[in-house]
Amino acid sequence: MSSTTIASSASRSAAPGPALWSSRLAFILAAAGSAVGLGNIWKFPYITGENGGGAFVLVYLACIAVIGIPVMIAEVMLGRRGRHSPINSMREIARQEGVSRHWKAIGWLATLAAFLILSFYSVIAGWTIPYIFHALQGNLVGMDGAQAGEMFGQLLASPFELTLWHSLFMVLAVMVSVGGVRHGLERAVTWLMPALLLLLVMLVGFGMSTDHFGTALRFLFEPDFSSLTAAAVLVALGHAFFTLSLASGSMMAYGAYLPKGVSIVRTSMLVAVMDTAVALMAGLAIFPIVFANDLEPGAGPGLIFNTLPVAFGQMPGGSFFATLFFVLLLFAAWTSALSMLEAVVKWLEEQGMARRKAAISGGLAAWLVGLTTVLSLNVWSDFTPLDSFERFEGKTLFDLYDFLTANVMMPLVALLTAVFVGWVMKKSSSEEELGAGSMHRVWLFVLRYLTPVGLVVLFFYNV
Ligand code: PHE
Repeated sequence: MSSTTIASSASRSAAPGPALWSSRLAFILAAAGSAVGLGNIWKFPYITGENGGGAFVLVYLACIAVIGIPVMIAEVMLGRRGRHSPINSMREIARQEGVSRHWKAIGWLATLAAFLILSFYSVIAGWTIPYIFHALQGNLVGMDGAQAGEMFGQLLASPFELTLWHSLFMVLAVMVSVGGVRHGLERAVTWLMPALLLLLVMLVGFGMSTDHFGTALRFLFEPDFSSLTAAAVLVALGHAFFTLSLASGSMMAYGAYLPKGVSIVRTSMLVAVMDTAVALMAGLAIFPIVFANDLEPGAGPGLIFNTLPVAFGQMPGGSFFATLFFVLLLFAAWTSALSMLEAVVKWLEEQGMARRKAAISGGLAAWLVGLTTVLSLNVWSDFTPLDSFERFEGKTLFDLYDFLTANVMMPLVALLTAVFVGWVMKKSSSEEELGAGSMHRVWLFVLRYLTPVGLVVLFFYNV
C-alpha cells in the first residue's frame, strides 16, 4: 500500500516519523521475536515440569486461545490506530473516542512494566553468555550435578560477572534499537528468527534421537487431570500473557508500525501459534534430555542452568549442542528485549530525542535499575524490604520486581485494556480496524466478559 512509500522516506531519519514495517512478514517476525523469549525456552519447560505436564499444557493452550489471542488483537489494534508510543497512542485514541484522557494510564502502566521487565530480563538473559563460552571451551564435558550447581552458584555470587554480562546484553539490545524500525529491528529479526528456528529444529532432532522422546511426548501431551491444581490454572493464565508479550506495551508499540490493510486478526493468531509451537518444541528438546538423564522435571527455575549442562556434558557432541542451546536462548531473549525497549524508546523520541539518544538513554536507565537485580542475587540477597507484609516475606528486590510486573501490573493492564476496548471504545472503531462480522462479535464478547472475569480471579488469587 501507499504506506511503504511513507515508510521508506521516514526510516532513515532520526526524527519520529511514521516508520512502518516493510511487509506483513516483517511484522510477524518482529512480533514472534518479541513473544518467543526466555518465557518459552527457560520458563515454559520448568513450570510445565512443576505443574505435572499434560493437563497443565492443555490449560495453557486454552488460555492462549481464549484470552491471549483476543488481548493480542486488541493491543495490536490500539497500536495501529494510535500510531504512536503506547502512552501517546492511548492518549490519541481516547481523544478520538471522546473519552477521558486518563485512559492513557494504560499506556503509562504498560510502558513502566516493559521498562521494569527489561531491567531484570537483561540480567537473566546475560547468564546465557558465560554458558556459551563454557560450552564452546568444553567445560561442561563430564560435569556432575554438584559441579553444575557450583558453576551456576558462582555466577550468581559474583556481582562483577553478572554486571558484565548484563551490560553486554543491554549493549546488544541498544545497538539494534539505535537503528530504528527498518534498519535495526527489522534487519535483526530477519536474521535471528530463522536462525533460532533452525537451532531449535536441530535440538528437537537430537531429542528424537534419544530413547526418551516418547516419554517426553507423553509427559507433554498426555493429560492427567488429577494432578491439576487451581494454582496451576492461574500460573498458566499468567504465563499466557507473559509469553505473548502482552500488557507491556510491546505489541502496541509494534502494532503502531503495522501497515493498514494487514489483517490484525489473522496475523495475531499466526504469531500466537508460532509462539506456542516454539514453547512446545522447547519442551520436546529439553524433556528427552531431562528423562534420559534421570533429572527432575520439576526442578524449578534452575532446570536449564543447573541440570542441562550435566546432560549436555554427558552426551556425544554435547559441547556442540550446548553451544547451540545457549545461543538459541540468547537470540530469543535479544529479540524480546528489543520490543520492551521499543515501548520506552518510541516515547522518548516523541519527547523530541533523536533515535540514537533515545535508545541509549532508555537502555542506560533500564541497565541502572538492573544493577539492583544483580545485587539482589548476592550482596543484597538478605535485603528483603517488605518483610513486614507476610505475602512478601523473604522476597528480594528481584523477586519483588518479578511479582510486581507479572502478578500486578500485567494483569491490571490487560484488564484495563479489555475494559477499554470492550466497553469504552465504540464498536464501530474496532470494526474499522478488524472488519465487522461474526469473528468481530466473538472477539468482542470474549474481551467484554471472559477476559475481565479471568483476570479478576487471577488478580485476587495472587495478591
Ligand atoms: N514474551 C517474552 C518471553 O516469553 C517476554 C516479554 C514480556 C517480552 C513482555 C516483551 C514484553 O520471554
